[in-house]
Amino acid sequence: MTAPVSTRSSADLIRAEEPVLAHNYHPLPVVVARAEGTWVEDVEGRRYLDMLAGYSALNFGHRHPALIEAAHAQLDRLTLTSRAFHNDRLAEFAERLAELTGLDMVLPMNTGAEAVESGIKVARKWAYEVKGVPADRATIVVAAENFHGRTTTIVSFSTDETARAGFGPFTPGFRIVPYNDLAALEAAVDETTAAVLLEPIQGEAGVVIPDDGYLTGVRELTRRKGCLFIADEIQSGLGRTGRTLAVEHEGVVPDVLLLGKALGGGIVPVSAVVARRDVLGVLRPGEHGSTFGGNPLAAAVGTAVVELLETGEFQSGAAELGSVLRDGLTGLVGKGVVGFRARGLWAGVDIDPEIGTGREVSKLLMHEGVLVKDTHGSTIRLAPPLTITAEELESALGVLEKVLRR
Ligand SMILES: Cc1ncc(COP(=O)(O)O)c(C=O)c1O
Repeated sequence: MTAPVSTRSSADLIRAEEPVLAHNYHPLPVVVARAEGTWVEDVEGRRYLDMLAGYSALNFGHRHPALIEAAHAQLDRLTLTSRAFHNDRLAEFAERLAELTGLDMVLPMNTGAEAVESGIKVARKWAYEVKGVPADRATIVVAAENFHGRTTTIVSFSTDETARAGFGPFTPGFRIVPYNDLAALEAAVDETTAAVLLEPIQGEAGVVIPDDGYLTGVRELTRRKGCLFIADEIQSGLGRTGRTLAVEHEGVVPDVLLLGKALGGGIVPVSAVVARRDVLGVLRPGEHGSTFGGNPLAAAVGTAVVELLETGEFQSGAAELGSVLRDGLTGLVGKGVVGFRARGLWAGVDIDPEIGTGREVSKLLMHEGVLVKDTHGSTIRLAPPLTITAEELESALGVLEKVLRR
C-alpha cells in the first residue's frame, strides 16, 4: 500500500502553512513527498539529491530497507508500553548500544535536546552524590558557539542571541569558554564543576573541528580535576565522521555520551544518554523519565541502527567517501569557496560572500536538484546519507561548482 500524496501543488502547500504553522523555521521552498536512499522527490515529481540527510538523522538514507523492515515488524506487534512496564525490545537495545559505544548503561530518551537535558541532570546528581559538591552549587562548563538544542535550560548557555532573546529568565549554573581552548577550560573548571559538555565537532557552528589533541586534553583535564566529560555526539556520532563516534579520532572515551538523530534511523525520534555505571547509576526510580523513552518501536529501530553500525561498513564507507568530498572541495577553493572544514562525510563550506549568502547558494543548488542547508551567513553544510555513492557525491560537487561559477 502506498501512502497518499497531496494533490495540492508545492506553492499551494507552502502558502497554506503560513497562517497555521508557527514560523520557527525558514525552510527552503521545496515540498518533499517521497524519498528513497539518497534521493527525495517533491510534490511535482522533481528529484533532488539529499546532501543534508536531516542534519544527520538520515545517516542510513531514506527508508533503509533493514530499518523499515524492523519498524514494520514492530508496528505489527507492539508499539508503546510506557516504562510503567517492561517491554521485550529494550534490554537488547541497551545491551547492544552499550557494547557499540564501549560504555555501560543507557538512558533512553526521544529527542536530542532531551538527551542533553538528561545528561545535565545526571551530571548534577553525580556532582552532589559522588563528588560532594554543596547542594545547588554545581556548574557545567560549555563552549561558545555550541548547539545542544532548544529547551529553556539549553538556550541558557547558548551564545546565539537569536536562540536566546526573549526566552529568559535563564537557568544558572553554566560557564561558557571559547571552544578549542584548553587554557580557558582549565581556568573555568573548579571544585564545583560537575561536567564539561562539548560537541567533539561543532555542527551548527559550521562543522568546526578542534585542533588535534584538544579532545585528548579535555579528557585529561576532566579526569585530573575530577569532573565528567560529556560528549554531545547527537550530530557527529553514529558513522558521520568515518568512525562510530567523533571522539574515536583521538581515542578518547567520554564519561557520558549523548546520542540522537541517526539513532532513530530517520523513522522515529530516538536519543540516549550512554554512560559509565558509576555515573548513570545515580538515577533512581521517579527521578527522571519520559513516556515515550525506550518505547518498543524506538528500541526495535534503534537496535536495527546499532546492528548496521556493528559491521563497521558505514564508518569505513564514510571515511573513504570523505576523501572524495575533501578532494572535491579542495578543488573548489579559490573558485567560490574560501575555505572548508571536513571530516568523514561532513563538511562546512565557506562560500565567498561576494557570490551570495549560504541561503542564496542553497536555493541555487535546490534549483539544480541538490538539497543542502546554510548555517551562519555564507557557510553551507554538507552531510549526505552515508549510503551515497562516489558518483552521486561527485555529481553534487559538480553542481556546486556550476552554481559557484555563475
Ligand atoms: C550537537 C547537537 N545536540 C543536540 C541537538 C538537538 O537535537 P534535537 O533537535 O533532536 O532536540 C542537535 C540538533 O541539531 C545537535 O546538533
